Amino acid sequence: MAIKKNFIVIGSGVAGLTFALKVCKFGSVGIITKEALEESATKYAQGGIASVMAQDDSFELHVQDTMETGRGICHEDFVHIACREGPARIRELIDLGAQFDLRGTEFDLGKEGGHSKRRILHAHDLTGWEIEKTLIEAIHTEKNIEIFEYHMAIDLITRARLDEKIKPGSLEDEALGLYVLNNKTQQVETMVGDVILLASGGAGKVYLYTSNPDTATGDGISVAYRAGAKIANMEFFQFHPTCLFHPKAKSFLISETVRGEGGILRLENGDTFMEKYHELGCLAPRDVVARAIDHEMKKSGDDCVYLDVTHLEGYRIRERFPNIYQTCLKFGFDMSRELVPVVPAAHYMCGGVVVDTNGQTNIKRLFASGEVCFSGLHGANRLASNSLLEGLVLSHRAVDKAVTLFKESKNSPNQLELIPAWDPGSAVDSDESVVVSHNWDEIRRLMWNYVGIVRSDKRLKRAERRIQLLLEEIQEYYWNFKITKDTLELRNIAITAQLIIQGALTRNESRGLHYNLDHLDVDDENWKRDNVFQDTARRLITPINPRIVTHE
Ligand code: SIN
Repeated sequence: MAIKKNFIVIGSGVAGLTFALKVCKFGSVGIITKEALEESATKYAQGGIASVMAQDDSFELHVQDTMETGRGICHEDFVHIACREGPARIRELIDLGAQFDLRGTEFDLGKEGGHSKRRILHAHDLTGWEIEKTLIEAIHTEKNIEIFEYHMAIDLITRARLDEKIKPGSLEDEALGLYVLNNKTQQVETMVGDVILLASGGAGKVYLYTSNPDTATGDGISVAYRAGAKIANMEFFQFHPTCLFHPKAKSFLISETVRGEGGILRLENGDTFMEKYHELGCLAPRDVVARAIDHEMKKSGDDCVYLDVTHLEGYRIRERFPNIYQTCLKFGFDMSRELVPVVPAAHYMCGGVVVDTNGQTNIKRLFASGEVCFSGLHGANRLASNSLLEGLVLSHRAVDKAVTLFKESKNSPNQLELIPAWDPGSAVDSDESVVVSHNWDEIRRLMWNYVGIVRSDKRLKRAERRIQLLLEEIQEYYWNFKITKDTLELRNIAITAQLIIQGALTRNESRGLHYNLDHLDVDDENWKRDNVFQDTARRLITPINPRIVTHE
């Protein structure tokens, strides 16, 4: 029996919850999330939200910093929108109960790489959790919202998927619903919706080392790509320069705001180095800092560099960064008295599912917001703390269009009758689950070694060949065995990895986060543009899932 909702939201971070809270005034909402509701990347965001709040700041300066960091390919129209609409969205969050740190009666604004002014609102170093918690409290007061925890999207159901005459992602195509794996019962459920919002976050788990939570497996990218959505600029994967270097710390993030408060990067011998790479030194944009650290580590053969805050007052460190301070202490480093070992790790996917300035993708009724989407805000490198801002602004802007589509669809034929049931066919339980973990490990290592901070044509081609073979193996495994969350995630990271590799192989220049030793210059003539991929050839969506049988 299919579940019918007017609005289906995939993901439960800032982008998904903001949209759900607004559209639930107009119709029923189902939020699907593959773990517990609060388990999103938003929860772990430390630094904060960038927005113009100070007297000495201006929208023009925020636009300029965003565009400069994005290395010439940000979409200027959306950059202006995000910067101008940010303050109003933040006030809404505050009205819902979010508390950002104050200094006296003014916001205590932080600073991060690439920002010319202090403009990072924060709640100590747990800003994301403050936002997530506030939104969840609000969600729980809404009767029109049903939450489906431990449910994972398998595939979108689109008209093109049901009718071979319709080209995926074309004007006749539209999203009707999705198949979802209930991870508690292991059953596949069908969900039908008038509008679907993808807000499933990023894909840091594609890389061996990442600051992201385990949920970041490129699910939204992969689901959207298989359905014929346009995907852009996947080669721009941001590496955060400072994650704690400790075998048990799982690349715990040490916020850039620590450097914003005066933290200094040093080599093992105590020397500073960032002044050699950029006039902003330790607060240069992230691509520059991560590459500089990578370069210094390769040169010295050291396993890490160090972050030094010992010259700052101890009480300020403990008060301003309580979570970072305590976590470092747990791993044996007292930041107020000793240097902390740090390394770069995969942090943020700047490419994504292409959307317009209202969050609409090229597939009718399918919207995307947050890290999974590509709005053009980040260009070739995201300005720090612009991501929560993007989710807030875009999800708000998606509401009007989504509600209009929902109202129109009240007059259209009952979609439930169009949707075929899921049939597991002859798939059996896997007797070789170890294949999943081997492939998973291989992809993450291959991405780290060949498609990391510094790339070359040779390494990228090697990665391309390997990922193709792995994908074939994974597809075969997918058809033969009953699906599980692990196999779905494996398929998703493999497809996302392939898109990153393809993006990196085709962009024959170095710009922002994409740095290729064989193409060191910026090539404005050919590449001052987006790099878009779309699977209209049904490469991944046909033959229609053999496990699906259509109703008579
Ligand atoms: C940080 O706190 O350094 C991360 C903030 C961000 O990625 O925008």
